[in-house]
Amino acid sequence: MSNMRVVFIGDIMGSAGRDALQTHITPVFQTLKPDVLIVNGENAAHGIGITPRIAEDIFKLGADVITLGNHAFDKRDIIPYMGDEPRIVRPANYPAGTAGHGLYVHTLKDGRKIAVINIMGRLFMDALDDPFATMDALLQNLPTKCVFVDVHAEATSEKQCMAAYVDGRVSAVVGTHTHVPTSDARILAGGTAYMTDAGMTGDYDSIIGMKRDAPLENFTKKVRTLKMEPAEGPGTLSGVVIDIDDATGKATAIEPLRLGPHLKETVLSDIAKKMM
Ligand SMILES: [Fe+2]
Ligand SMILES: [Fe+2]
Repeated sequence: MSNMRVVFIGDIMGSAGRDALQTHITPVFQTLKPDVLIVNGENAAHGIGITPRIAEDIFKLGADVITLGNHAFDKRDIIPYMGDEPRIVRPANYPAGTAGHGLYVHTLKDGRKIAVINIMGRLFMDALDDPFATMDALLQNLPTKCVFVDVHAEATSEKQCMAAYVDGRVSAVVGTHTHVPTSDARILAGGTAYMTDAGMTGDYDSIIGMKRDAPLENFTKKVRTLKMEPAEGPGTLSGVVIDIDDATGKATAIEPLRLGPHLKETVLSDIAKKMM
């Protein structure tokens, strides 16, 4: 066996998130030496969606795969790009015929492979195809036991159910979409690493990444005169580090990753020691 280390970074939120990724990714590479970097980019373009140029910038920073979510198609020029760029993955349970794809098998420089899946929940979200049945279909005939799942969902219960459903069949299930990291990173009984939400990479002095005024108006006045704008203060990088035994596909360690202001920071050298 050998170890495959995956770093996953939660929803990049606007320029604050892009800047935080740029600032913190070099020390992450230097200290944690990940084999694979996966980044959720669904909010990278001014808080909603992603453009081809921003996707290219995220790949240049070292991302191997970009996952998305309910904002996958908000910037329309990403739609043709999805057809040309296999490394960008949108939720797999969009209806048949939707642009793009929900699974990408990434090959490392040493020839090892990891499958990356993006799947979306349906509770308090758009009605999509059944994510559980979709997952069963995706897990047929994969060329690797190493499988990372970004479950993009609002409800904790639905994310936990997805993790329970695939426990032992995939290496990791990590949630995105709520933009707040949870403190439940752990390995489930079947060997699947799990964290309900990786949190966003962006300015936490905000309402889930947006400047406070428009969401506050919406909740207190039930009118919308203000435009939602991403908060542009200093950003925090939030995500998770996972070690996978590549012979079995089971996870051997999971540690949260938080770098920047507002949240309690994790120390990279401490994470490296814990995961040795
Ligand atoms: Fe998001
Ligand atoms: Fe989302």
